[in-house]
Amino acid sequence: MSVLIKGGRIITAADDYLGDIFVENGSISLIGESLDISAERTIDATGKYVLPGAIDPHTHLEMFFGGTTTCDDFTSGTTAAAFGGTTTLIDFCIQAPGTTFAQALEAYHEKIERCKPVIDVGFHIAVTDLHTGGTLEDLAKLPDEGVTSYKLFMAYKGAVMVDDETLFKVMQVANDTGGLVMVHAENGDAIDVIVKAAVAEGKTDPIWHARTRPMETEAEATNRAIQLARVAGAPLYVVHVSCQPSVEPIALAREKGWRVWGETCTQYLFVDDTALEKPNWEGAKYIYTPPPRPKDQQEHLWKALVTDALSAVSTDHCPFNWPEQKGINGREFQVVPNGGPGIENRLHMLHHFGVSEGRITLNRLVELTSTNIAKLFGLYPRKGTIAPGSDADLVVWDPDKKHTISAATHHTNVNYNLFEGTEVVGAPEIVLVRGQVIVEGDRLMAEPGAGQFVKRARFGQELKPARGAVV
Ligand code: URP
Ligand code: ZN
Ligand code: ZN
Repeated sequence: MSVLIKGGRIITAADDYLGDIFVENGSISLIGESLDISAERTIDATGKYVLPGAIDPHTHLEMFFGGTTTCDDFTSGTTAAAFGGTTTLIDFCIQAPGTTFAQALEAYHEKIERCKPVIDVGFHIAVTDLHTGGTLEDLAKLPDEGVTSYKLFMAYKGAVMVDDETLFKVMQVANDTGGLVMVHAENGDAIDVIVKAAVAEGKTDPIWHARTRPMETEAEATNRAIQLARVAGAPLYVVHVSCQPSVEPIALAREKGWRVWGETCTQYLFVDDTALEKPNWEGAKYIYTPPPRPKDQQEHLWKALVTDALSAVSTDHCPFNWPEQKGINGREFQVVPNGGPGIENRLHMLHHFGVSEGRITLNRLVELTSTNIAKLFGLYPRKGTIAPGSDADLVVWDPDKKHTISAATHHTNVNYNLFEGTEVVGAPEIVLVRGQVIVEGDRLMAEPGAGQFVKRARFGQELKPARGAVV
């Protein structure tokens, strides 16, 4: 299949120019001006942007968590991602209690066999236990399987939280194997004490989710992980940074030239803690972790995205239906499964409120949602840019298309949207994965199975293009 995309404004992390892109056999074959080549399909991109497909490094599809399972599988979740311009995601393969890492990985491969994705998919391994199944030796083998990032939860005591010994040992393995360590940075022990005290006093409404997870508990764990990673010699990526106290240690480490990066998520830029106070248990929709923070934190996060204290924006899509799942187990905040949806709206929100409102440039949008993520997670330059030889994962973006975000029209299975009713200007028109059109306007063109598992390179190494450029 060959495709010629003509006359678009091609945006990468570094460039912004008008040109044509010729795609053959899934890869970008040629980029130039007024290309006179016949192709099986020609797309007129006049007046549109052509962006590298976005990459989401933080999703939880079909994940058992908090006593229930997230309501998107790999078909519905990747379909929703595709409609938002995301062409690759990296999901967390969680080590279930008592299982080995090989078993955990096998279970996740089964998930994408059963519910086939429409975009490309990679896995991080989430290490939850080194005592009853997982061993450090087995962990060291995972990069050979294309799983080159190790995730650890420093919170969720009694569930997936690990202690510092486990965290540090995994960091040492990462140093040996070329893995990237990812942390959910919150002090789970302190939070557990604070939560128990609040519940004992009958403080069980959703707002107590935020009040029992002070920003300092996030900042402390962020700093601890940074210092331990430094000692172990491992590169570190801090997920879902929600507030300035947590940005600060990351910024300091980066100023020193340490191998530390931070991500925030769309919701922390737009949803504040007052959402948890919505009446009739509706606040439970916003019980995700870290919690929504006071509104003044949002401008700190935007600034960090500009200064590169934070280097990526993900979605942390972790969808549970409301109230069926968010209301289960009795109405106490601490038993509500933690997680919120958002896989489809990252580019909508960042383009409208970030680019159009002058907070970030188009190049920075691409960097934050695609290029930096590809570089950190072993996907670059096969993905994350528009260059000869790269996969033709492309978004023809209509900067003038009006779109109202709503659960009534979104494509995930979840029955609410964190940004319900928000009107944005700018949306994907056509989305391609490896040269195949998967979304066109409001229509899904891909069959499940259009997406493939991607074996990622080790940290700092390039993922070579699938085939050589034919320029
Ligand atoms: O509340 C959240 N974020 N749930 C998903 C698991 C995690 O902590 O990322
Ligand atoms: Zn987390
Ligand atoms: Zn998460």
